[in-house]
Amino acid sequence: MIILSIETSCDETAVAIVEFKKGSAKVLANIVSSQVKMHSNFGGVVPSLASRMHLKNITPILKKAFQNAKINKKKIDFVAVTNGPGLIPALMVGVGAAKALAYGLEKPLIGIHHIEGHIYANWLKKLNAENNKLWEAEFPIICLTVSGGHTQIILMKKDLNYKVLGETLDDAVGEAFDKVAKLLELGYPGGPVIEKMAKEGDEEKIKFPRPMMNSMDYNFSFSGLKTAVLYEVKARKEIDNQYKQDVAASFQRAAFDVLVSKTIKAAEKHKVKNIVLGGGVSANKKLQKLLAGAIKSNLSACGFSFPVSRLTSDNALMIAIAAYHHVEKNKGIKDWKSVQADANLKLK
Ligand code: KG4
Ligand code: ZN
Repeated sequence: MIILSIETSCDETAVAIVEFKKGSAKVLANIVSSQVKMHSNFGGVVPSLASRMHLKNITPILKKAFQNAKINKKKIDFVAVTNGPGLIPALMVGVGAAKALAYGLEKPLIGIHHIEGHIYANWLKKLNAENNKLWEAEFPIICLTVSGGHTQIILMKKDLNYKVLGETLDDAVGEAFDKVAKLLELGYPGGPVIEKMAKEGDEEKIKFPRPMMNSMDYNFSFSGLKTAVLYEVKARKEIDNQYKQDVAASFQRAAFDVLVSKTIKAAEKHKVKNIVLGGGVSANKKLQKLLAGAIKSNLSACGFSFPVSRLTSDNALMIAIAAYHHVEKNKGIKDWKSVQADANLKLK
């Protein structure tokens, strides 16, 4: 079964073509065209520009994907697309292209929730393998999904079954990284550069708050932490590189302490077999290390998974893997008329 998938929810135009055979995947094409350089001039993603770039890029990228895959278009069995959440002008480009393809090829269309894609990125353990066996995950699973738009703790009792236990009440953690980087004049996106600076800094130098760390729920709040960084930096007279490194390290540790502590609490409560990390922030080695350490100390029998490095940020391969599970479970297989872009799509 061959799935063509499209992802355009934010600032990446991505197309993948994947052949699935009884629980294994062969990646025939996987193209990601990032607009990050263009948006960095504005300090963040500009939705109308993102949409324009997606529109310019989507057809050449589709063409290139078919060339890479070396298959005839008629071989596609299913078309899949991220239909939300995300920036509506950006989503509409991908959904429009997917609808046109599904209509033209007379194939079913599957709408995929962006976070569902980030979670299922974990099911592909190697990127370059010819025929890679997909992960046979044991449930229940706790997912910590951390991106520029989301911070959620999700319980999965089985495939495609999601219960959001908690989420951020204000900023997403990736957004907080981006804002702190802007404050320290480190550019956009903030996550990778904060991680790099933090490696050279002292994470105990500045005592930043750990918002909602001891609240009885699984919710988060990062806007107060961001404001604490703002006040700290404003009050400082001399801002040299060492100081920036210490702020980066102390901020990063404060944010991750809360994420790790609540994830472990949820995993203990639900006696899970695995903890899964997903979303752009999951690329962060310090977060991976802290979570792995906490699992080892508190939940010795629990497994831990994070995506291979090229699948942490937005891509279409993760959308194809999620779509494959939809086909297997016969969930959400629609015709081109029934899939719509929805900026606030809920995970069901
Ligand atoms: O999943 P993603 O690529 O796009 C969204 O769905 O939002 O996530 C992007 C976010 C950005 O906020 C970026 O700063 C953050 O992920 N990020 C990181 C790292 N790499 C990307 N945050 C912390 N550490 C990183 N290494
Ligand atoms: Zn994402």
